[in-house]
Amino acid sequence: MSFLDIVRNRRSVRGYSDTPVEQEKLDYILEAARLAPSAVNYQPWSFFVVKSRDVLNKIYESYDREWFRSAPLCVVVCGHHDASWKRKFDEKDHCDIDVAIATEHMVLAVEELGLGCCWICNFDPELCRKALNIEDENVEPMVILPIGYALKPDNAEKKRKEMGEIVTVI
Ligand SMILES: Cc1cc2nc3c(=O)[nH]c(=O)nc-3n(C[C@H](O)[C@H](O)[C@H](O)COP(=O)(O)O)c2cc1C
Repeated sequence: MSFLDIVRNRRSVRGYSDTPVEQEKLDYILEAARLAPSAVNYQPWSFFVVKSRDVLNKIYESYDREWFRSAPLCVVVCGHHDASWKRKFDEKDHCDIDVAIATEHMVLAVEELGLGCCWICNFDPELCRKALNIEDENVEPMVILPIGYALKPDNAEKKRKEMGEIVTVI
């Protein structure tokens, strides 16, 4: 599969079978995150792989959707604001950008491996923090990524802006 095929085929998956995710596949996905680029190579991130039913139940409280409960595991991607690059001109914190790149590396690896996932950012960060016992104020849970085998294929058309609407060649 070409890179563009992976990008074209990927869909957000909101419904998973109870087939477990193989450890080798999980390792591959995490390696894709580990190798992601980051500003000044600061790598201001950490990853919680949550499989424990007990902890998953607490995480569901931060994002209460039935479909989310069907995933066999999730990865919570945390940004470390005390370790991220701040641009000297305006102090812009690049933590979110770095975390987004590492997350998208995982998302595309998931697709390549025939698995499915869905970015989740619309969760209650305080409840998620509690579920994972994160006490450090500099550490922010930014993305929850449920991963598993999709319950059914989704061939719905991708709704995207036309090239002419978004690209300016000057
Ligand atoms: C930063 C970000 C946050 C998102 N947060 C959520 C979310 O909280 N819940 C959800 O169901 N989908 C979420 N999504 C998935 C988007 O809704 C989805 O990517 C978009 O509608 C395009 O659909 P597709 O992923 O199937 O191509 C998020 C995606 C991104 C990139």
